Amino acid sequence: MNDPAGGRAWGTGEAGRSASPRWSAQTLLEKDRELISPAYSRYSDLVIDTAEGSWLHTVDGRSVLDFGCGIAVTNLGHRHPRVTAAVHEQVDRLWHVSVTTRHPAMIEAAEALVGISPAGLSSVFFNNSGAEAVEAALKLARRATGRTEIIAFRGAFHGRTYGAVTLTASKAKYRTGMGPFLPGVHHVRYPHCFRLCDHAPDEPCAIAEGEDLDRLFQTTVPPDSVAAIVVEPIQGEGGYVVPPDRFLPRLREICDEHGILLVADEIQSGMGRTGRMFAVEHWGVTPDIMCVAKGLGNGLPIAGIVARAGVMGAWHPGEHGTTFGGNAVACAAAVAVIETLQRERIPERAAELGRRVMERARGWQTRHPWLADVRGRGLMIGLEMMDGDRPDARRTHRVQEAALERGLLLLNCGIDENVIRLIPPLTISDGDLERGLELLEAALEAAE
Ligand SMILES: Cc1ncc(COP(=O)(O)O)c(C=O)c1O
Repeated sequence: MNDPAGGRAWGTGEAGRSASPRWSAQTLLEKDRELISPAYSRYSDLVIDTAEGSWLHTVDGRSVLDFGCGIAVTNLGHRHPRVTAAVHEQVDRLWHVSVTTRHPAMIEAAEALVGISPAGLSSVFFNNSGAEAVEAALKLARRATGRTEIIAFRGAFHGRTYGAVTLTASKAKYRTGMGPFLPGVHHVRYPHCFRLCDHAPDEPCAIAEGEDLDRLFQTTVPPDSVAAIVVEPIQGEGGYVVPPDRFLPRLREICDEHGILLVADEIQSGMGRTGRMFAVEHWGVTPDIMCVAKGLGNGLPIAGIVARAGVMGAWHPGEHGTTFGGNAVACAAAVAVIETLQRERIPERAAELGRRVMERARGWQTRHPWLADVRGRGLMIGLEMMDGDRPDARRTHRVQEAALERGLLLLNCGIDENVIRLIPPLTISDGDLERGLELLEAALEAAE
């Protein structure tokens, strides 16, 4: 499994560019600043010309190992040969019809997606982005239950459109000056035991047991007014937080008890990233609605919700819609992605590599005590940096800078921006993974 391209030269880091770009990196940076909204901030000033496998190649000739995957999107590596071939074939066949007709690629993509989803989730609505999938889930949950209230978690990230950003509670800047937001949304604590809880490691976590929800139901929000609880099975932008084992099963129980729909946002944690196809599988929990995006198209914009047929059936024809969602080329990519994940046993590989990376990273903690927590599942791994009992964003940024100088692109996350997230391609070769870890180790040393 070390050669996901099946013997073809792919993603070696040595690929050249076929034609030189029109402008220099410097000119491109200047034009970018002039033309692109300042809201669209970037993690680095790299200007990428081509990418292949685990590697990014800049317009000025640098090759950088990509441990960010376009924010957990290119799970199969850049331009995976099988996905690229499927996209080429579809481009030559049919691009777009929207709701004017049906087309085979959408039906194939839906069948493939249902085939990998938890049993019982059998009906799909395709969108273009994660936020749109979350919007769809919110509208469907209200429509299906006839209730109005929605519960989400502090530290959550669900996107930037009005409904999704109302659920998002990872950074106040996502809301600054943009309210009012969607009514009927309530936040409770997510069980981030490393930072929030004061129980001993072997004691049960009250938050995971649903203490905050009980209090909310008792004091302000009657449970029979709640349409949905929306949760990231592993919190992403909020800091790569893996909840205690009790948390998701308990949420399922609470939802069943009160007729509330459980919505799992698997946008970042899904598509093999955590060592299972979807993170909810770690806890054997089946949501009523699941949101997917990011890795579904491996870089082409496709997202969706998968729901129990009885829930999806609450929508009548035309009550929800989209022009581009389920675009034929994006659907062809999704089919190829899902086939590749299954055929190459990618989630299993992510689990194995993840164990290796976590063991190695835990070894670094003795040399760098400020590397206070190493956590994750599969290749969704967070390294939390602390200065005593305070989050250390400065050192986190120093590690990122030192890594980039050495040729490794790393992203951060966390409400305090003090967590390095390791999200390399799930197809990364043993050699490239080793190289990335060596660069990361050197970057930690440089930030000492
Ligand atoms: C868990 C989660 N939900 C939703 C979103 C929003 O997805 P998009 O940026 O495609 O709208 C993201 C994006 O990072 C995410 O991580």
